[in-house]
Amino acid sequence: MNTIEQIFSEKKVTYYFDAEFSYMEQLIAKENVVILTDENVFQYHAGKFLGYRVVRIAAGEQHKNQSTVDRIIKELIVLEADKTTVLIGVGGGVVTDITGYVAAIYMRGISFGLVPTSILAMVDAAIGGKNGIDVGLYKNMVGTIHQPDFIFYDHSFLQSLPVKEWINGFAEIIKHACIADALLFSMLEKHTLHEFQADETLLAELIEKNVAIKNAIVTRDEFEKGDRKLLNFGHTIGHAIENIHGLPHGFAVSIGMAAACNLSEQISNLHFTEAKKIIMLLAKYHLPVDIETEHEQIFDILKMDKKRSNNAIQFILLEKIGKAVIKPVSLDVLHQHIKEIV
Ligand SMILES: NC(=O)c1ccc[n+]([C@@H]2O[C@H](COP(=O)([O-])OP(=O)(O)OC[C@H]3O[C@@H](n4cnc5c(N)ncnc54)[C@H](O)[C@@H]3O)[C@@H](O)[C@H]2O)c1
Repeated sequence: MNTIEQIFSEKKVTYYFDAEFSYMEQLIAKENVVILTDENVFQYHAGKFLGYRVVRIAAGEQHKNQSTVDRIIKELIVLEADKTTVLIGVGGGVVTDITGYVAAIYMRGISFGLVPTSILAMVDAAIGGKNGIDVGLYKNMVGTIHQPDFIFYDHSFLQSLPVKEWINGFAEIIKHACIADALLFSMLEKHTLHEFQADETLLAELIEKNVAIKNAIVTRDEFEKGDRKLLNFGHTIGHAIENIHGLPHGFAVSIGMAAACNLSEQISNLHFTEAKKIIMLLAKYHLPVDIETEHEQIFDILKMDKKRSNNAIQFILLEKIGKAVIKPVSLDVLHQHIKEIV
C-alpha cells in the first residue's frame, strides 16, 4: 500500500493506493462506519463487509435521485448514525456521487470516504469532490462540491467488473491522455485492455497516473471557473449522442472525442496524423468512434448546451495530443461542420 495526501481548499484528502479493504478497520473502528453500496457490488463482495452496518441501494444511474437519497437518510436514522459516523461509499460513480451528497447534507455534514470499484470511479468520479444526483433527465442537477476524507483503492473489486464497464472507464482514461499527458497516451498505445486487466502492477501505475492528472486539474480550478472544464473534452457532443441514442456514457464520450478531434483539425490546428492516432486508440480499446445519427437533432441539442454564450459554444479542443484548449465555436461554424465531424 502507498499513500499520498492532496490538499484542496476545504480539506486534505488521503489516497490509499494498492490497499486491501480489510485494512479499513485499522483506519476507523467498524462501529463508527456505515457502508453505502449498490446491489451488484454487495452481491459479489458481501464477505468484505462482515461486521459493518451496510446500506444498499439499487444499481444504476436511474436510481441516482432524491428518492434514493431520502431512503438512505431514513436508514441512517434507523442505524443511529450521528456526527461521529463515517459514511463509506463502496461502488461505481453512482454510489460515490450519492455518498458525497448524503454525507454533505446528513446532520449538516458528516465525514466520508470513498472506495471506488469501477474503473470510471477509480480514475474520475471519486476524485475532485463533485457529488450529486439527477433530477429527471437532468444529470447532476443537484449537488455540492465537498471533498472526501479519503479515497481507498482495492483492485480486487475489479475482478467482478463487467468488461463493458472496463471499456466505459477507459474512455475517461484516454480523455485524460488527450488533454494532459502525451506519455500516458504512448503507454496506452503500447498496451492493450487485456494487459491492464491481467497485470495488476501495470493497472496500479495507470490508475495512479490518472488520479494525478485529475488532481492536478482540479486543484488548479476546484470550483470550475476555467481549467476544470478541460475535463469535458468529448462531453459536449457525447452528451447529445448519449441523449439521442441511449449509449453508455463512455461510449458516447468516445464518439464525442472523435468528433472533437475532427473539429480540432479544422479550427485548432490539430495535425491530422494526431487526430487519426486518437481515433485509432479509441477503437483499440473497443470504443465506438462514429455513429449513424440525425445531425440536425444533434445540432438542436448543442444549441441548448449550458456552455453556450452569445451564439457560440465553449468547446474543448486539442492543439496536440496532451494539450487541450477551450475555444468558442460559433453555432454557424458548428452547423457547417456537423456532418463532417460526427
Ligand atoms: N463526480 C464526478 O466528478 C464524476 C465524474 C465522472 C462521472 N461521474 C458519475 O459517475 C457515474 C458513472 O460511474 P460508473 O460508470 O462507475 O457507474 P455505476 O456506478 O452505475 O457503475 C456501473 C455499473 O457497474 C457496476 N459495478 C460497479 N463496480 C462493480 C464491481 N466492482 N463489480 C461488479 N459490478 C460493479 C454497478 O453496479 C453498475 O451496474 C455517473 O452517474 C456520472 O455522473 C461523476
